[in-house]
Parts: sequence; structure tokens; C-alpha cells
Amino acid sequence: MSRVTRRRFVTNTLAAGAGLMSAPAFLRAQGSNDKIGVAVIGAGGRGGSHVNAWMSDSRTNITVIVDVDPKNGNSKCDAVERKQKFRPVLVKDMRTALEHPNVDVISTATPNHWHALCGIWAMQAGKDAYIEKPICHNVWEGSALIAAAKKYGRMCQVGTQCRSSAAVQAAVKFMDAGGIGEVNFARGLCYKRRASIGSLGDYKIPDSIDFNLWSGPAQYTDPKLTRERFHYNWHWQRMYGNGDLGNQGPHQTDIARWGLGLDRHPNTIISYGGRLGYQAERKDETYVDAGDTANTEVSIYDYGDKCIVFETRGLSVNDSDDQELNMLFQSTKGNKIGVVFYGSEGYLVQRSYSHCIAYDKDMKMIKEFKGGGDHFGNFLDAVTSRKADVLNADARVGHLSAAVSHLGNISYYLGEGNHVSPSEASKQLDKIKSLDDDGATLDRTVKHLQKNGVDIGKYPISMGPLLRFDPEKEVFPESPEATKLLTRDYREGFVCPTADKV
Ligand SMILES: NC(=O)c1ccc[n+]([C@@H]2O[C@H](COP(=O)([O-])OP(=O)(O)OC[C@H]3O[C@@H](n4cnc5c(N)ncnc54)[C@H](O)[C@@H]3O)[C@@H](O)[C@H]2O)c1
Repeated sequence: MSRVTRRRFVTNTLAAGAGLMSAPAFLRAQGSNDKIGVAVIGAGGRGGSHVNAWMSDSRTNITVIVDVDPKNGNSKCDAVERKQKFRPVLVKDMRTALEHPNVDVISTATPNHWHALCGIWAMQAGKDAYIEKPICHNVWEGSALIAAAKKYGRMCQVGTQCRSSAAVQAAVKFMDAGGIGEVNFARGLCYKRRASIGSLGDYKIPDSIDFNLWSGPAQYTDPKLTRERFHYNWHWQRMYGNGDLGNQGPHQTDIARWGLGLDRHPNTIISYGGRLGYQAERKDETYVDAGDTANTEVSIYDYGDKCIVFETRGLSVNDSDDQELNMLFQSTKGNKIGVVFYGSEGYLVQRSYSHCIAYDKDMKMIKEFKGGGDHFGNFLDAVTSRKADVLNADARVGHLSAAVSHLGNISYYLGEGNHVSPSEASKQLDKIKSLDDDGATLDRTVKHLQKNGVDIGKYPISMGPLLRFDPEKEVFPESPEATKLLTRDYREGFVCPTADKV
């Protein structure tokens, strides 16, 4: 960060943070010793896991908590104070935390639309950054983070913690050594039940929340809230979140890419799906849910000689009749979240953070992998050694894996309203290049919707365009409207710079 910018940002933010933090507390610099000072930014559900992780590592002190909602912030400060024996400073503007003398690293679990700008500001201010997945809300923000980490010489880790899981590491190694033969295709699954978030409406923003700061790089909506629950359900509104393809998805898109050895973006992408089934769920044909991301989505990524298919299902996945997947996951009921690798000699399934199974062609188990890991600890190893190659999931890993989600959503968003019958969808899929049996995947998806009471004639799926991507230049050469969705319109004061301007 330039000196001028830095000075301006201190002046602005000390004023902005003053409501929650008294100057003497700020200046006292509690927690100053030889430990790594951490600022946890975003003290909601996941922020709680960050707090616990840092408190259980003897190398760190949590010196600052940042939240625009004092209720969440104070409850985490209480928890830290109980265990750490001194209370972190609570501020509501992350820029204030970046000026704190005892903050060496930031760990951010804000909503997705804040991730990249938060990470870039932190690295410009000389801090290392642990950033939750997806590392960015759009593709160009991801390349900006890579550039910032390089320019400012900072450690930047994305929160795809499976990268530090002993089970997944060993399973990938096993595949690399030919354990299931040649592997060119992976199917990521996010079959995770997500009920409706309530009807689209005009709801009150809780008085205590600084909605200007919460909105940050996203559009400031008046202020107006169209969803009932303020926290968490932003995941299903595309202005802030990225649907489940970009929520749970980045864990699995990351493992799929890692297992296939794909250190690049795909060449083409196509997605189809919809936000379907909530009318049947609510027994009201006119019901409009407040979310605008897909709850049912199939995205197909062609990497030339390799392919990833990602399936998102938010309706009930109980009693699924997807027989092959049931066998591989050893379950017919409940959520299925994981990755299946299809090899010439067998299959490998990542079925949880700490459990993978390899099968032969007859689906006989040939090897099991178990064990978790410490992703936060891995970040600290890099912070203390100043060696970026120690990181299990650096900014580039985060960017490429988040981009899988973002690119899939771009095709879906552009196809919204292009309603197709299953037979029309099948004809369009016949034209694309893929290592999957796309017709069979479509059939399974349609059956799943019907099983959940979706009248496909009345509520059809939408088919996105097949988009050709330039993996090096990060543009869609034939689609300016798709290229536009690789970034967003930022608000003044919250502009995330592009990679050449960090
Ligand atoms: N790695 C994982 O396994 C994992 C698990 C869950 C969530 N996550 C990620 O963590 C992030 C947070 O998810 P969540 O479920 O905790 O969401 P949440 O809505 O429950 O919490 C977000 C918190 O951030 C605060 N916040 C919003 N804007 C802020 C800002 N500008 N500065 C400071 N605080 C701000 C909110 O007030 C809230 O307390 C998401 O990006 C999600 O993808 C990762």
C-alpha cells in the first residue's frame, strides 16, 4: 500500500471503528509478546472455528476481532477472553485492525464478496492472510490475490482444509502412483439438503449491523434486505454468495483438480439447472424463494484430455436411486459430499474430510485412507518460516479451484430463462465434448427433481451456453457478456484492484 493511501485509510478507519473500540484499549497493544498476533475478521459461524483453531495453537494470540455485528464480535471476544485470559480488541472496520501494532496475520471468515478485498488490503498492509473459501467472489479477484501475495511477499492460504488432510493427501498420492490406473475424469458432488430460505420480501436489517461495511464491494441496496435471515443466507444471493457450487463446492472442485493434476483453468464450460422445488416443498405454486442461485446445477468442464463434472443438489437426496454413487459412497440416504475419480483400473472416492476409499473395477474396496490435519497450523508454519512453498493451499490453488465454481455459475447465470425440456437438454448436451455420459447424468438429475415433486413441465431447467474460456488471458473470447461476469461493478471505497494494479 502506498504511504498516502495508508495514511488516509488510518484516518478514515480510526473514526469508523471508534464506536466499538476506545482509543486507550487500541493503544494498549494487549497481547504484545513474541507470539503471532491474529486478527479474526468475520466472527460468525466459521469465524468461531477460526477462533478455536488459533486459541489451540500455542504460537498465536488473538489480539483483534473484527465484525460489523457487535453481537457476533462480542460473543467471540468473550470466548477468547475466557481461554486466553485477555480480551481481544473488537472493531467493526477491518482497516482499523490492519493498523493495530499487534496484528501480524489476519484470518478472514467474512461473506464471500469481501474475501479478496480483505486479503489484498491485509497484504498491502504487510500482513499474512488466511482467507476462507472461495478465496474470491469472482475470477479476476483471484488473480489479484495471487499478484498481491507475490508483490508484497506475504503468505496467503485459502481455507480448503482438505489440502492438509492426511487421508486426502495419501489418496492423491496413491492415484498419482497409478493406484486406480489412468485417471482423466472426476465427478464432484454437493448433494447437500438446503431448504428454502423464505420468501422474497422486504425485511428489516438488524439495527446493530453496519450495513454499509457489510455490503462493502457489493452494491449497497438502499438499505434493503430481501431475505428473512440476515446472516448465512447471503450464500444463496449471488450479489454476495456463489450458491452451493461456490460454497461447499470449492472443497470438492479443489480435490477434483488436485487429483487430476490440473494446474490450470478449463477450456470450455457449460451448466444447466435451476432454483427448483420450493413451490412443491411449500405446497404453493406461486411461492418465490428469496435466493437467486441454483439449488440444482450440473456443470461440465473440459480441460482437453481431462474433464470434471460437478453436480449440486439442494433438494432431498434421501432414497436416491443413483446406484453406482450409492455403492461408491456406501449409502443410499442423506447427503453425499465428495469426489469420485474414475480410473481405468478402478475408482477413488473422497467421502469426507478425513476418509477416502479406493475400489477396483468390481467395486471391491482395495484401500482405505483415514486421517485429518491442521490447515491453520500449516499456514503458521509458512508464516514462521517465510517459505510460501510450505503452504498446502496458496492463493493460486484457491484461485483455480474457486474459478471452477465461478465459471460454472457464469454459464448458468447466462442461461437463466433459456428453459429446456429434458429431451431438448439432451440434444444440446450431445453436441459437447465430455468424458462423462452427459445423457445419464441429465437423466439422474431429472429423476431427482421429479422425486422431489418438481413438475418439470411447469418449472423447467435452464440450459446455459457452452462457453469457451481462454485459460491464460482469463477472458471468454467469444462472449463479452460472460467476460463481464469475471468481475463486478465495485462501489467507491471498496474497489478490488485487478492483478496489474495491486
Ligand atoms: N472452510 C470451511 O470448511 C468453511 C465452513 C463454513 C464456512 N466457510 C466460509 O466462511 C465464510 C463465513 O461463513 P459463515 O457461515 O461464518 O457466515 P456468517 O454469515 O455466519 O458469518 C459472517 C460474519 O462476518 C461478519 N462480517 C460481514 N462483513 C464483515 C466485514 N466487512 N468485516 C467484518 N466482519 C464482517 C458478519 O457480521 C458475520 O458475523 C464464508 O465465506 C464461507 O464460505 C468455510
